[in-house]
Amino acid sequence: MPIRDGRSPDAIEEAARTLRAGGLVAFPTETVYGLGADAASDEAVAGIFKAKGRPSNHPLIVHVAAGMKGTEALSRFAQPLPPFAQKLVQAFWPGPLTLIVTRQPGVAAAAAGGQDTIGLRCPAHPVAQALLVACAEHGVAGIAGPSANRFGRVSPTLAEHVRQEFGDELLVIDGGPCDVGIESTIVDCSRGQPVLLRPGAITRTQIEAACGETLRDRHELAAPDPRASGTLEAHYAPSAKLRLMDAKALQTGLDVLGPNAAHIAVWSRCAIKSRSQRVLLRRMPDDAAAVARQLFATLRAFDDEGVKLIWVETPPPGPEWEGVHDRLQRAAAA
Ligand code: TXA
Ligand code: MG
Repeated sequence: MPIRDGRSPDAIEEAARTLRAGGLVAFPTETVYGLGADAASDEAVAGIFKAKGRPSNHPLIVHVAAGMKGTEALSRFAQPLPPFAQKLVQAFWPGPLTLIVTRQPGVAAAAAGGQDTIGLRCPAHPVAQALLVACAEHGVAGIAGPSANRFGRVSPTLAEHVRQEFGDELLVIDGGPCDVGIESTIVDCSRGQPVLLRPGAITRTQIEAACGETLRDRHELAAPDPRASGTLEAHYAPSAKLRLMDAKALQTGLDVLGPNAAHIAVWSRCAIKSRSQRVLLRRMPDDAAAVARQLFATLRAFDDEGVKLIWVETPPPGPEWEGVHDRLQRAAAA
């Protein structure tokens, strides 16, 4: 099946029909591409777990439309939200924020990985919204969709990445390169107080300001849920071995290897030099949003070059870097 242009109404209609019939469709969001299925159909959702090679007790995110359709979907999948979660919806939807809320019993059990909570997100990408609206018209209230990569691998930020992961059998709706580039911020709103499960483009500072509560950290929970795959220590990994280092250690490492250095890629904000022609030196932008946008495509490009080692300069501190830092740390842990 070809990659279809998401600006085409025919492509959106075909995707909505495929989802309605229980099939899988890859679709763009502003964060990364998702692998979608009808959230209310346990059978369709089983297809996602199978395609990704993901354990079926790992919960998925359910995507909902903006506006009235979204409000309907929210009450269909979730029990009434606590006031602080409503404030987050007001402030950040549509956008790169997923809320974990108490699930409405009897719906989307497979999508929720059997848990009594459910992850909901209203994506801002216009193609995702067009698809969600078309789906709602076909009676599909939500699209369950993890990132469209095989389990443990780097998330796709281009339609072509999805094709590389799953081949030509899958219908891929192309929405261009993803603007945010790393997966949504996830806030657990099911425990009375907001808990940050996964950092992303929407920062902890923004979340606390919008909901007026102190954001707890995942490690403060008595029993952190090991099934939240985005929270596994080792994840989002390229094939090459990734190491995080400060600029000085990077330069020293290359100096030690000298002209014999090979199969190494370096991604750094500082100017780094190597005496070997066979070291790939790539400059990292100074701006956190730009780094996030390039992050996964850069790791994939290094893998395509056949490097064995990727040395990345540790990003600076600050809330806007937390998402990038988190993904790099997990990639380094693999
Ligand atoms: O930006 C994104 O969030 C992308 C796009 C496609 O929307 N999706 C994404 O999905 O990153 P996925 O499945 O790769 O990551 C979703 C994370 C997983 O860590 C999952 O375990 C967690 O959300 N999650 C989903 N429902 C949950 C729940 N009920 N409780 C705890 N964690 C949950
Ligand atoms: Mg993922």
